[in-house]
Order: sequence, then structure tokens, then C-alpha cells
Amino acid sequence: MSAADGVNKDSTVSETALASQAHKAWEEKAVFWDEMMGEGNAFQRVLVGPAAERLLELQPGETVLDVACGNGVFSRRLAELRARVVATDFSEKFVGLARARTEKAGYGDAVEYLVADATDEEQMLALGEERFDAAVCNMALMDMPTIDPLMRALRRLLRPKGRFVFSVQHPAFNSKAVTLVLEEEDREGTLVETYSVKVAGYLRVPPGKGAGMPGEPVPHPYFHRPLSELFGACFRAGFAVDGMEEPSFAGREGGSRSAKIALSWENFVEIPPVLVARARPI
Ligand SMILES: C[S@@+](CC[C@H](N)C(=O)[O-])C[C@H]1O[C@@H](n2cnc3c(N)ncnc32)[C@H](O)[C@@H]1O
Repeated sequence: MSAADGVNKDSTVSETALASQAHKAWEEKAVFWDEMMGEGNAFQRVLVGPAAERLLELQPGETVLDVACGNGVFSRRLAELRARVVATDFSEKFVGLARARTEKAGYGDAVEYLVADATDEEQMLALGEERFDAAVCNMALMDMPTIDPLMRALRRLLRPKGRFVFSVQHPAFNSKAVTLVLEEEDREGTLVETYSVKVAGYLRVPPGKGAGMPGEPVPHPYFHRPLSELFGACFRAGFAVDGMEEPSFAGREGGSRSAKIALSWENFVEIPPVLVARARPI
């Protein structure tokens, strides 16, 4: 959390050092991430994608900005929904991988990929004021040391009736201060498993490194924001938040290979690991 965002000023970890390591970390894991994400891992296919799509309420022909697009998995989905897409990421490697996948999938004309740092207000504004009907930022705000500049830029990049949809790791249930817990209990001869989370911190979780996916070559920095700070950044920039989803894997119990791993989020069906919200200019 950046001091500019107003909270967590007493962090013992050097934010500046972490922020400067972020780009390097993402460059280093772009190829691994692209291979694992492909055209959508379970988080993307079950949680993030469907909720973001519902909240975006996209109309064919609309122009959409995909901020921190990664390998472009959602940019291609937007193109499939007949949007015109501008997709940005600060990792040159990710942009190259996304472009290659998108051309291969036949959406080369519908998605324009650009390298841009989402924490740099001027870089983002250079995309064009009031150019976009909608913007999306999936699973990336918690990777950024500051989000106020992006929020301010988005307020001006969006048309007056635009909307901004973002997904993040749920700050209450899925952060570096959370421990996943599996307990097994013998209830009169029947073994009962209970999945829960232990939340050791929420209001002030210092920035630190973590893995985005199991087996990653390097960790990357996380910048936790409680809900008041996350939505506060929207409000400060002139947005109202008018839609929210907290998707979980409920209904898909044991459905996939990764659900066989006891502490996979797919088994914590009562707890949403992701928060997806929609902000509109006011
Ligand atoms: C967890 S991945 C999510 C990628 C994609 N949105 C998705 O849902 O698959 C986070 C992405 O954010 C990008 N990113 C992190 N900080 C950024 C910044 N300051 N500006 C632009 N992109 C950033 C990383 O390069 C990476 O592609």
C-alpha cells in the first residue's frame, strides 16, 4: 500500500524496493504464467471471467480497456463478445505473449496490445480521454503499490456512462495474513472435513512477496488493501460502486484435478477467494 493511498504507512517492508521489483518479477514469470493460464485456469473460468462479464454488461461494438491484461485471456474473451479492445500491461514479455496468442486465435484485428504502467497516470491518460465505454482490471490491483493514479486516469478515460470492473483477491479471506485450514473430525464414526480460513490481519497487512500460482519461478509483491481503502480509491476518483460479486467454487466440489489437493481454493466452497466490483463515474 502506498502512502499516497493513505493507509499502512508504518509498513516495515520497503515499498519502493518492492515496487521496483514488481516489473522484474512479472517479466521473469510471464512464460510460466502464460503456460499455466492458457485460455483460462479454474480461477479465470469459474470465478473471475463470468463475474466480470456479468458486471461489464458489454454491448457489441463497445470499446473496452483491459488493464494489466497478462496473457490476454480476458481480452480475447472480450473480442469474442465483439468488443473492440485495447489491452495494456507493464510487462513487455506478457504483451508479446498476449499478442501472439491473440493473432493465433484470429482476434488480431480486435485487440490492440500496448505496454503501459498502470500506476503511471500520464501513461494511462495517453490512451485517450473518453475513448472507452468500459474498462476492466482482472486480478492485478493488489499487485500495484498505488492505485489512485489509475483510478483518476480511468475516470477520464471512460465516457460519462462508462463502467470500470475490477477483480482482486478477496481482501478479507485471501491475503498474506490468511491461513487456509482443513480440520478432520470424527463425528460418531464419520470423518467430517471442515475447510476454513484463519484471518490474522485485515486492516494493516504489510506488503510482501507471494506466489500467484503454485510452482511459479519467482514470487511477486502484493499490496493489500482492506475494502474501505479499495473502494475509497474509487470514491476519491469520482466513481460510485454499484455492483459486486463474491464468487466461490460452490457447486463444483471435487470437480477438477486441483480440487484433489486438500488446500486448493476449490474445496473452500463457502468462502470467496475473489471479489469482483463495478464502479461508474458520478
Ligand atoms: C495476476 S496477473 C493477471 C493478468 C490478467 N489480468 C489475468 O486476469 O489473467 C497480474 C498482471 O498484472 C500486471 N501488472 C502488475 N503491475 C502492473 C502495473 N503497474 N502496470 C501494468 N500491469 C501490471 C502483470 O504484469 C500481470 O500481467
